[in-house]
Amino acid sequence: MGKFQVIDHPLIQHKLTIIRDKNSGTKVFREVVDEIAMLMAYEISRDLPVEEVEIETPMMKSVQKQLAGKKVAIIPILRAGLGMVDGILQLIPAAKVGHVGLYRDEETLEPHEYFVKLPDDITSRQLLVVDPMLATGGSAVMAIDALKKRGASNIKFVCLVAAPEGVKVLQEAHPDVDIYTAALDDRLNENGYIVPGLGDAGDRLFGTK
Ligand code: PRP
Ligand code: URA
Repeated sequence: MGKFQVIDHPLIQHKLTIIRDKNSGTKVFREVVDEIAMLMAYEISRDLPVEEVEIETPMMKSVQKQLAGKKVAIIPILRAGLGMVDGILQLIPAAKVGHVGLYRDEETLEPHEYFVKLPDDITSRQLLVVDPMLATGGSAVMAIDALKKRGASNIKFVCLVAAPEGVKVLQEAHPDVDIYTAALDDRLNENGYIVPGLGDAGDRLFGTK
């Protein structure tokens, strides 16, 4: 089974409270999602491979460490995943970005795929699939299905708020995928929304509805 980690650093908890607040408008919501994504990227990148390189300091030749390649791709699930891309790119600026477009039918809660555009070397990259919300888990499972169908194997899923129901569904469908979230909430409500949650992440990010 892949790793399941709640990244509950005090800065992240504080910022998450800001975006949960219904009085935070689009500007603040967007800025703070970006900041949380950057902080999460710091933790998630902890196990990136490094290699030794010889350099010369002003004092002497020395063998030091550098990242072993520019091997990360960020895959936002449209739309709301877009809000997390820039924050991660601040720490991993050479990452490529692929997109998987899904929307959740509001009646059935089933996801529908409408767009997939990926870097052509995803099979050799560490993929970070990002979406603020892991609710029923349907969207995450379908997005990762789409990546695996195209040969990807090295996948981490990163969200801000997860429901226990979604974590279980994702772990069962893709036990090889590590899951990182800033918070594990109580449950889904009767409409498939996470409670306490933060509402509809896509709408709050883009100011729709
Ligand atoms: C939201 C969210 C996830 C999905 C989570 O997207 O951003 O993609 O719902 O729900 P699930 O775990 O039950 O599948 P939505 O379908 O509302 O689309 P949007 O990002 O375009 O607003
Ligand atoms: N999608 C959202 O944006 N919010 C939820 O609470 C559930 C799904």
